[in-house]
Amino acid sequence: MDRNLALEAVRVTEAAALNCAHWTGRGDEKAADQAAVDAMRKAFDALSIDGTVVIGEGERDEAPMLYIGEKVGSGGPKVDIALDPLEGTTICATGAPNALAVIAMADGGNLLHCPDTYMSKIAAGPVGNGVIDLDKSPTENLHALAEAKRCKVEDLTVIILSRPRHEALIAEVRKAGARIRLIGDGDVSAAIATTKPETGIDLLMGIGGAPEGVLAAAALRCVGGSFQGRLAPRNDEEIERAKKMGVKDIKKKFQIEELAAGDVMFAATGVTDGDYLRGVHFFSGGATTQSVVMRSKTKTVRVINATHYFEHKPNY
Ligand code: FBP
Repeated sequence: MDRNLALEAVRVTEAAALNCAHWTGRGDEKAADQAAVDAMRKAFDALSIDGTVVIGEGERDEAPMLYIGEKVGSGGPKVDIALDPLEGTTICATGAPNALAVIAMADGGNLLHCPDTYMSKIAAGPVGNGVIDLDKSPTENLHALAEAKRCKVEDLTVIILSRPRHEALIAEVRKAGARIRLIGDGDVSAAIATTKPETGIDLLMGIGGAPEGVLAAAALRCVGGSFQGRLAPRNDEEIERAKKMGVKDIKKKFQIEELAAGDVMFAATGVTDGDYLRGVHFFSGGATTQSVVMRSKTKTVRVINATHYFEHKPNY
């Protein structure tokens, strides 16, 4: 993949973030999501790729735009695309922190194709490689990571989606003595936060969306972070859908490079202010955005601050 594509990708996430940020805190999740989808779909037309959406807004019959299998781009190299125009629809609708517009790209066939089911996930920064493991208990993972970080378990902060399904996990982490940041939504942002020491987040554990798992894995691959995922389907129908999409072993523990292989790039723009990225800030006639773009090949992480003037952006 052409390295310049990484910078082009930022235009796509910026467009989505700028368009949905108007809906921040306005209590309308659907409108916020639609605004992000519309702008992202349009922005893809300017990209010189022969792109196929492999992780998108849903199956063709349920999503009119950016559905799985949709072709995007104006022609060029074959690229698989995982996207979430608004990761954290509730976050945006309530004006909470850490909503993002996100895309990941890889050469064709290199991103896991999976349905919109759940995934059990564990993620940490590069220090977690060969240390954390989905097959270890939460307590074992905490001790292993503390040892690798040369700190105490009490010094670690684990980020967990606040869900009833995580009751036992939360109880065990508390018993082990680690600190917890419970979040309402947004485990892509949470996974990325483990790679930036300033966030104070050391580890992500728990079950979240499988598509979000692929996106997080793509981001962490780019920075050498650690991530493992195992599908957690809710019913037989989801198992069948996963099999149809090519998942042979439904209980498989996917390593990061099995979720996002080869040359991967990842871009995200903040919608609301967050741990990793600042959100969209409007001013008279324009707005500022903050984005990150990463490439697995070089592990370069670029943070891009941009000022947009709406007179030059008739699409937003
Ligand atoms: P949406 O942007 O689709 O609302 O997803 C938000 C999110 O919190 C993800 O970050 C997470 O992976 C998933 O939902 C968790 O699913 P659920 O809300 O069903 O527990």
